[in-house]
Amino acid sequence: MVRSVFNSVADQYDIMNDFMSAGVHRVWKDSLIHTLNPRANMQVLDVAGGTGDIAFRFLDNSPTANGKKTGHVTVLDINTEMLRVGQNRAEKLGYADRADFFCGDAMNLPVADHSQDAYTIAFGIRNVTRVDQAVEEAYRVLKPGGRFLVLEFSPVVTPILQKAYDTYSFNVIPKLGEIIAKDRESYQYLVESIRKFPDPEKFTNMISKAGFERASYRTMTAGIAAIHSGWKL
Ligand SMILES: C[S@@+](CC[C@H](N)C(=O)[O-])C[C@H]1O[C@@H](n2cnc3c(N)ncnc32)[C@H](O)[C@@H]1O
Repeated sequence: MVRSVFNSVADQYDIMNDFMSAGVHRVWKDSLIHTLNPRANMQVLDVAGGTGDIAFRFLDNSPTANGKKTGHVTVLDINTEMLRVGQNRAEKLGYADRADFFCGDAMNLPVADHSQDAYTIAFGIRNVTRVDQAVEEAYRVLKPGGRFLVLEFSPVVTPILQKAYDTYSFNVIPKLGEIIAKDRESYQYLVESIRKFPDPEKFTNMISKAGFERASYRTMTAGIAAIHSGWKL
């Protein structure tokens, strides 16, 4: 079902994000990269990486060493249409030599144990059927000292905003999906999936249970989105 949702919206995905969030998704994604704080020669696995927003930000913010750009990212997604859009963008924008794109499932990563400096997943983990399995896989592929970072919508917003947020989510977003992406149902599913995702405290417990140390989170924009972090130590 998730595969067909993203097949249907892939070409309009980036423009829809700007419309739905009035551009704020860019600020949240910048915050994720700021939290990651890229070091020279870092190898990052961006799961559910879709059209490459996180991957390209990581590459833009990676330091140079000996006058050469460093940093390498592997973008993994279950959906080949999203990957196609991402790969085209990478070629157009000049990232192709530092980014690889692979089709794969977050619950069963085709990635070697202890091979990644960081694992990122933005607005993807709530779409995964078994979230705990995806978190365990993240732990497996990270090197000791590696960082796990999740950017996701949170189901809990500041109470004063709850009513307006619900109206916006359940009425305006599906309508925008209908007009812009010509697919109301997919955007209806996407807003419903936000409400089913565990709240930040519960998700933090899940991260700790998988073995990550110093599990923490911080919410942004009145609780609409959260960045979760854990370390494999
Ligand atoms: C909302 S998009 C996020 C894309 C990108 N990370 C961003 O922030 O713009 C969610 C992505 O998760 C992918 N996805 C869903 N389930 C997945 C799974 N089990 N394994 C890998 N990717 C998955 C979808 O194909 C889609 O590209």
